[in-house]
Amino acid sequence: MECLLPDDPVLRDLFRRVLSDLVVPNSPLGFITIWQNRNRTAEDIKMTTHAEEGTAALDTTFLETTIYHNRVFQSYAIDNLAYLVPIDEEEEERLHIMHNVFRMIFEGRLIFAPIDRPRRILDLGHGTGSWALEVAELHGRCEVIGIDICPTMQPQEMPANLYLQVDDVNRRFSFNPHHFDLVQSRMMAGAVHTNRWAQYMRDMLRVTRPGGWCQMIELYHNFQSDNGTLTPDHALSQWSARYIESMEGLKDLRAATRLPNLMREAGFVDVESRMIPLPTCAWSSEQRDSEIGAANRENVQRLLNTLAIFPFTERLNIPIQDVHLLIAQARLEADNPAFKVS
Ligand SMILES: C[S@@+](CC[C@H](N)C(=O)[O-])C[C@H]1O[C@@H](n2cnc3c(N)ncnc32)[C@H](O)[C@@H]1O
Repeated sequence: MECLLPDDPVLRDLFRRVLSDLVVPNSPLGFITIWQNRNRTAEDIKMTTHAEEGTAALDTTFLETTIYHNRVFQSYAIDNLAYLVPIDEEEEERLHIMHNVFRMIFEGRLIFAPIDRPRRILDLGHGTGSWALEVAELHGRCEVIGIDICPTMQPQEMPANLYLQVDDVNRRFSFNPHHFDLVQSRMMAGAVHTNRWAQYMRDMLRVTRPGGWCQMIELYHNFQSDNGTLTPDHALSQWSARYIESMEGLKDLRAATRLPNLMREAGFVDVESRMIPLPTCAWSSEQRDSEIGAANRENVQRLLNTLAIFPFTERLNIPIQDVHLLIAQARLEADNPAFKVS
């Protein structure tokens, strides 16, 4: 596997950005977390091959960008309909915001499985690398590998045990079998092809050591009202329906609801899952939920534009003015505590 950014000082200088202080923000609806035990009884298999030797090199095609409606996208991702979300600074900020929301929800826990001293961890679609970086700092003796098709959102400074690499999760993983103690896949529903999910799970299972774990977190962008006041005619509901429609046949945006079954079908055991409503603003009377909603608010406000802009205009052919109107109305509804939206 080629490690584009970390090894090339020119590229590093070109794409590094100063990470501004995190503005506490917010996000969409419910999400699900799942973790599993691959094998309850099998002995660990010793790995002798370094993980980096097990992946295929990619080229600088992954650095080319293209612009739609003032947002920067990766050309490779757009040309291959691999990922229809911008990769610009604005999106980088949103991912930091979302990471902060996860920290609040999970009360700082990065790993859910009972793993004391992990030796190798894989993060599929590392994004800004926030999670992988914190895991690497927490477990200094663990080799943490992150892969992503986009090498431009990586952290400025990285610990020596963190390796971020360019690779496509829609290709069969070429890491050695039974290599990792933990494999994480977080917010990858927009990345994994619809028809790839079953094999994606099997690939995760294959590269996890016996007795190792996988954890998955997915958002389900289907806004719903806690008090039933949000109707199908509301802009937020329209947004959800349009978003799912725009990805039909390409990405499974309902993947969050299917993860437990997909994991079991792939052969995972000890599968646990939780569905957690995620408020779109600080509408809850519960202090904790209200704080999470307040933090998630900025994420939701941003994602309503970020996720929709390409699929709505380019796949559904909705005029950009109409898209802007729908997003503006949906933002108001998400921010209205009376709707109690999660
Ligand atoms: C929504 S972000 C999530 C990032 C990170 N997992 C997190 O939780 O913050 C999705 C990430 O998947 C990456 N991605 C999209 N398609 C991919 C592919 N085919 N292979 C690898 N990474 C991909 C994107 O570049 C982006 O960084």
